[in-house]
Parts: sequence; C-alpha cells; structure tokens
Amino acid sequence: MVGVTADGITEAFARVAENAPNARARELFVSLAGHLHAWLKETKPTHDEWRAGIEALTRAAELTNGGRNEFVLFSDLFGITSLVDLLNTPEGASSSSPLGPFHQRGAPPLANGGDMWKGQQGEVLVIEGRVVDAASGEGVSGAILDLWQNAGNGLYSVQDPEQPDGNYHGLLTCAEDGSFCLTTTLFLPYTVPYDGPGGDMLRALGRDAWRAAHLHVIAEAPGYRALVTELFVEGDEWLEKDAVFGVRPDLVLPVEQCRKGDAVADALEAKDSLPETFLRIRPTIRMATGGN
Ligand SMILES: [Fe+2]
Repeated sequence: MVGVTADGITEAFARVAENAPNARARELFVSLAGHLHAWLKETKPTHDEWRAGIEALTRAAELTNGGRNEFVLFSDLFGITSLVDLLNTPEGASSSSPLGPFHQRGAPPLANGGDMWKGQQGEVLVIEGRVVDAASGEGVSGAILDLWQNAGNGLYSVQDPEQPDGNYHGLLTCAEDGSFCLTTTLFLPYTVPYDGPGGDMLRALGRDAWRAAHLHVIAEAPGYRALVTELFVEGDEWLEKDAVFGVRPDLVLPVEQCRKGDAVADALEAKDSLPETFLRIRPTIRMATGGN
C-alpha cells in the first residue's frame, strides 16, 4: 500500500479487512482501529509516550499468570468491564457487576440458612433475600447462588494461607419460592493490586485503588440468563469512588441494625448463636429469562 496519509489510514485499514471471513470480527476491528486513530489524531502522543504505553503492556504480560491478570485489571480500571456489563444487562434485571479475580470454581455447598460466619472476626451479617423473575416479580424456583466475599481481615481465602480453603465461599440452592438466607460477616473494602502498570495508571490519574465492600454473587436458574453481580451496602465510603466502576444504584442495600431477639428467618441455622447486635440486608435478585 503506497501513499497512506494520516487522513486516509482509517479507510486503508477498513479496505484491507474487506475479505475478513467473519463479519462481526471485521466490524469490531475496523471500528476499534477507527476510534484509536481518532484518539491518536486528537491527542498526538510523542514517541516517548507511545513507548511508555507499549512498556506498560509488556509489564502487564510479565505480571499476568494463573493468579493475577493485569489485562483484566486494565479493563476494570478503564471502565471497560463495567460498560460491557451495563450494555448486556437485560431490561428489569439486576445490574451486572464485575466477576473479579477471586472466584473459585467448586465452592463448598452452603445450606439455605447456612453459616459462612462460623464465629470468625467481623460484624455479623444476616442476609435474607429472594431471587425473582425480572418481569413478573414471582420467585424463581431452583435458583443457585454462588457467593463469595472477603474475611474480617479484608482478604479472600485464596490470598490468605491462614484461612481454610473455601472460607467465605458457598453454593446455596434457594427455596422453591426463591427465598434464601444465611449468616456471614460484613464484607470489607479492599484495594486492587497497585504494584504494576495498573497501579501506575491509578497514580497518574490521582485515583485510589480501593473497591467498595461487596458480596459477589453468581445467580443461575434453569431458563434464566446467568447473572454475575455484587451487592454493596449503604454508607460505604468508597461507593462513589470504586476503582472498577462496579457500583450500580440497584445493588446498594440499606443495612438494618438488629439486636438479639429480633425476628429472623426460621431457616437460619445460627439464629440461636447470633451476637447481641448484628446487621441485616434484604437483597432482591432479579433474573431475566433466556440463555447467556
Ligand atoms: Fe471482590
């Protein structure tokens, strides 16, 4: 190709992709190239700035392994992960929120009414919720919730050799009417890794690495789209500044201050061993019908 100019390069890119065997792949690549070209023309990076970007990606590749993915972190920090979630949230369903890096396949079963607290440090939290059909509001029968969160020291079990495998992870099957309950401890804010190029980006932007405290949830049920989301609590200081843009208004729950003796769900295994004061949230998880 001879005579490519700054003005013509986007069109030239589209032309050489004309024989792409996959129309969707062509659309994604040609559009991305066009947006990148426009960004370059707008910001006019120097060769040093371009090299710094390539070096950041190279360091990201060096840091990425089975337990850490700096590219996913970049996606999260740019808001890309959250935007993909938002664009794919069905009408009326609970908002999606990032999966994050601490999900473990094969979580231990957790009975409906079961206990993830097990007397560990932290503020005891009772969760009494329901999984409902996004359109009708009726309970979803056979819903399975994959739940995970950090412990009272702010760490997930995979980060902390002091915690038993699968601590604060649970796979819970809801009741026929979609209701579920459990005891746990209040999840805590934590930082995303900031010792790599993702952290360099945060520092360059004057941003914090903190995530608002959250309980991770994957909800699945026959005939429904799987939902990957997070539950947050009102009053968390990082709700407005969550490093990965994961907070959506419908996912932020009020927290009730409860006392021993307050009515709790009958199914709660730990109801007789609750402390003098504890917290409660009542999430409603709305699922949309269809496949993923
Ligand atoms: Fe998390």
